[in-house]
This record gives sequence, C-alpha cells and structure tokens, in this order.
Amino acid sequence: MASNIIILMMIMVLRVVEGAAERAFFVFGDSLVDTGNNNYLATSARADSPPYGIDYPTHRPTGRFSNGLNIPDIISEKLGIEPTLPYLSPELQGEKLLVGANFASAGVGVLNDTGIQFVNIIRIGQQLEYFAEYQKRVGALIGSEKAKQLVKEGLVLITLGGNDFVNNYYLVPFSVRSRQYMLPDYVSYVISEYKNVLQKLYSLGARRVIVTGTGPLGCVPAELAQRSRDGSCADDLQQAAVLFNPQLVEMLNGLNSEIGSHVFVAANTNQMHLDFIIDPQAFGFVTSKVACCGQGPYNGMGLCTPLSNLCSNRDEYAFWDPFHPTEKANRIIVEQILTGTTDYMHPMNLSTIMVMDSKA
Ligand SMILES: *[C@@H]1O[C@H](CO)[C@@H](O)[C@H](O)[C@H]1NC(C)=O
Ligand SMILES: *[C@@H]1O[C@H](CO)[C@@H](O)[C@H](O)[C@H]1NC(C)=O
Repeated sequence: MASNIIILMMIMVLRVVEGAAERAFFVFGDSLVDTGNNNYLATSARADSPPYGIDYPTHRPTGRFSNGLNIPDIISEKLGIEPTLPYLSPELQGEKLLVGANFASAGVGVLNDTGIQFVNIIRIGQQLEYFAEYQKRVGALIGSEKAKQLVKEGLVLITLGGNDFVNNYYLVPFSVRSRQYMLPDYVSYVISEYKNVLQKLYSLGARRVIVTGTGPLGCVPAELAQRSRDGSCADDLQQAAVLFNPQLVEMLNGLNSEIGSHVFVAANTNQMHLDFIIDPQAFGFVTSKVACCGQGPYNGMGLCTPLSNLCSNRDEYAFWDPFHPTEKANRIIVEQILTGTTDYMHPMNLSTIMVMDSKA
C-alpha cells in the first residue's frame, strides 16, 4: 500500500520534471522574490545579516527576506529545476545562465519614485534592461536563435505593487503622491504604468508570465503595529489592496485579449494570504499577527536584526519579519500557485501551464 503510493508519487514527480526539463525561469520584482541581488548594491534594503536565513540549507543569510526559502526557490524546487541565481551574482556564468535568472530587487515598485529612501535598488526599468543584457549573454553562449527560444519557452514570475503603497503613497503622512492623487486615481496610475512594464516584458520575448497581486497590505505585523488600534487590519492599506488587485486582473485580461493568448496569468496572492491570516490555526500557525523576528507590538516595529525577538519554531508563524512571510507560509502560497482553483489562479494554475506547455 505505502509502496504503491511512493511509486505513484515518483511517477508524478518524474512527469513534472520531464515537463520542466530545460525550462528557464525568470523572476522580476521586489523583496518577496529577491534572492540576493541587493547584497551587491549599496542600499539599506537588505537581508544579509542573521537571523535571516536561519532555516536556509546553509543556515546563513543570503539576501532573501525569509527565514529559509522564498517563493521563487519553492517554485524551482517543485518544478525540479535548479534555483535561479540573482542576476548580479558573479556565479551566474556559462551553463548556469541557461537555468534563468532572478532580477528582483527589494524595495522596488512599479513607479521609479517608490523606495527612493533605499537609494541604490534595481528599479523595474533597469531589471528589464538587465533581461535584455542577459539575452545577449545567452546568445553569445548558444546562439541568438536558441537564446530566443529559451526565453520564449521560459517561465516568468513578477511581483510588484505592494511597495508603491507601503514605501511610497503611505510611507509618510502627506506623502508627495498622496497629495498629488486620491487613492483610486493613484491605483489607476500605478496599474497603467504596470501595463507598460508588462508590455515591455512581452516585447522582450516573455510568453508565460505569472503576475502576483499584492497581499492584504494592512494585515502585516508592521501595519498592525503602526496603524491598528485593536489588531484588526489597517483600513487605508487594505483599501489600497482592495482597489489594486481586481484592477490588475482586469488589466491582465485586457493584455491577453490584445495579444490573443493567455500570456499573463494572475495569481490571487491576496486571497492566498487571507486564508491563513483569517484562520492561522487551520494551517498550523499559532498566529498570523505577530512576526517571528522583530520588536515592539506584534514584533512589527523596525527591522529584523540580530538584537530582535526571535521565535523558536518558525513553522508556527505566518510572518517571518514585519513584512515578509515565513518559508512555511511561502510553501502554502506556492501550493496554490501550482494547484489552486480559478479563484486563486486565473485563467489557470501552474500545473496546468506545465502540462499545456509541454504538449505545445
Ligand atoms: C522610470 O525611469 C525610466 C528610466 O529613466 C523611464 O524610462 C521610465 O519611463 C520611468 N517610469 C515612470 C513610470 O516614470
Ligand atoms: C489546478 O490544478 C489541479 C491539480 O493539478 C487541477 O486538477 C485543476 O483542474 C487545476 N485548475 C485549473 C483551473 O487549472
């Protein structure tokens, strides 16, 4: 009985790996998906000191804003491909380039003025320029036709938008952007600029792009500490997420119909987070309000540093630091990306994508 199950599981794993053979993976966006680019930059947006990485295989900080693996790592693991290296890593050379690359940089948003306080980060326009440069480097390695093919058949993940609220519109009271725009107008503006970014990504050859929405921005420990009186999610940031996420899906639908193909796939990360925020116990968490690493109310004040409070069992916490999920929470999110219903993945989930694209 048990051995039948094991054999069945092995067959399933082999199938997934076969489907994924040679498929490159490209990652763009912010700290939720940065695997270490900011370590190579003079910026304050970094996760390069303990206890970051405490549950990573090396137990050392890597630049990931997690106790262990983050979302792109877990996607690579599930697809049976090597984790993609940060684009700025000196190890990203030769054959390693064929695995793909991670261009993400903690602190960035859709807008160039998002995260200016972090100074040197790779803004999204620059991430796309690096993607073009990457393609030239791969072209020099395997020829430009094969390089084009690699990109066309690659899988892309992009995570942006949260910082345009947290680290811009709502960063300080009376921010420049909040004096310039009412929230609904600001959301429309960010969405229209995001559309330009995605069109550029398409023109650079991306043909299968998972686009995550924002999480419930007002529910993270940092916002509970700063803006919530009774521990319920902060209204203003929640309002931003409520406006942004449906408009993002609508924008992606529009792009797909212009292109005439399901290039862009919307991941409802807002709902994926809400599931464990609303009922943490159902997912084995003791809390979804208190960060594992931090200080002050909800461990949500300031940064996670060697001097912070640190929980002993990271798997019992939904949030690792005041803003970012634990590896355990990231695994729940990736499970939905892989096999979620159309409420979570629109128009289809990643397992369906892998099967479809392996037949094409
Ligand atoms: C951001 O800066 C880049 C490079 O300077 C520019 O091409 C792009 O249009 C700017 N984006 C926005 C939204 O202003
Ligand atoms: C998502 O994945 C599951 C399991 O692989 C599959 O049964 C389901 O039909 C998929 N749903 C969609 C909408 O693609």
